Amino acid sequence: MKMFDEEIVDRIDAISKNKKLIDIANNFMSESTIPKYCYNFKWQNRPIIQYPQDVLAMQEIIWKVKPDLIIETGIAHGGSLIFSASMLTLLDIQDCHEQKKDTLHLKESKRRVLGIDIDIRKHNKEKILEHSMSNKIDMLEGSSISDEIIEKVHNYAESYEKILICLDSNHTFDHVYSELLAYASLVSIDSYCVVFDTIVNDLPEGTYPDRPWGQNNNPKTAVKKFIADNHNFIIDKDICNKLLITVSPDGFLKRVN
Ligand SMILES: C[S@@+](CC[C@H](N)C(=O)[O-])C[C@H]1O[C@@H](n2cnc3c(N)ncnc32)[C@H](O)[C@@H]1O
Repeated sequence: MKMFDEEIVDRIDAISKNKKLIDIANNFMSESTIPKYCYNFKWQNRPIIQYPQDVLAMQEIIWKVKPDLIIETGIAHGGSLIFSASMLTLLDIQDCHEQKKDTLHLKESKRRVLGIDIDIRKHNKEKILEHSMSNKIDMLEGSSISDEIIEKVHNYAESYEKILICLDSNHTFDHVYSELLAYASLVSIDSYCVVFDTIVNDLPEGTYPDRPWGQNNNPKTAVKKFIADNHNFIIDKDICNKLLITVSPDGFLKRVN
């Protein structure tokens, strides 16, 4: 009899060949983008600008990688920072459980989230700082591709061993490619650099009339160039084949060496 995990592999393989289901998912992605479907969710009461499927995928990745540092570009209302901090807290609780320690030892954890945003709005910053997860969060204000911020992030990351990165700021080719060049080297082996909004490439031209990104200028075009030149990363296709509904098709980059 097959084990449940083997059955998952078979199911994902079947789904990845199911043209009807893939077409429905792709239609859902293009139809749901314009009414701003992803702006309607919260994590622990902070708006998180993500599709629920991607949040669940991040939960699986974080639980598997067990990072001690998550670096995120693009804070907005702080929902993804709070989500990452809450996942790191759950990992701390799991550590206590495995080491048969009580949760008083949570304070010993060094796991942290570092968020970077060019414009951390005052009201968002206040809400993030007053949140119960804030003790795990640090924030830097400035462009994620400025020399100053890149240096600060590298200094911050020096004392961490397992690093996961999420890129979700400006979605132009130039910006995301510069972020990949600046930060991908920090990703630990077997961990991920998750590039959000690669979906822009697959949506009809004109979907973002008020944004500089579009079909030939977006995170997926940056990923393509980066992956062609950097063989220590692969695109983890299984994650997207499983999700079908994701803003990050070909955006889950796994460091393999
Ligand atoms: C899509 S939102 C981030 C959403 C957030 N990760 C979440 O899941 O809720 C994009 C954010 O990127 C920020 N941003 C835009 N350009 C940036 C840059 N050059 N450097 C850093 N952040 C930038 C914007 O200010 C905005 O808050």
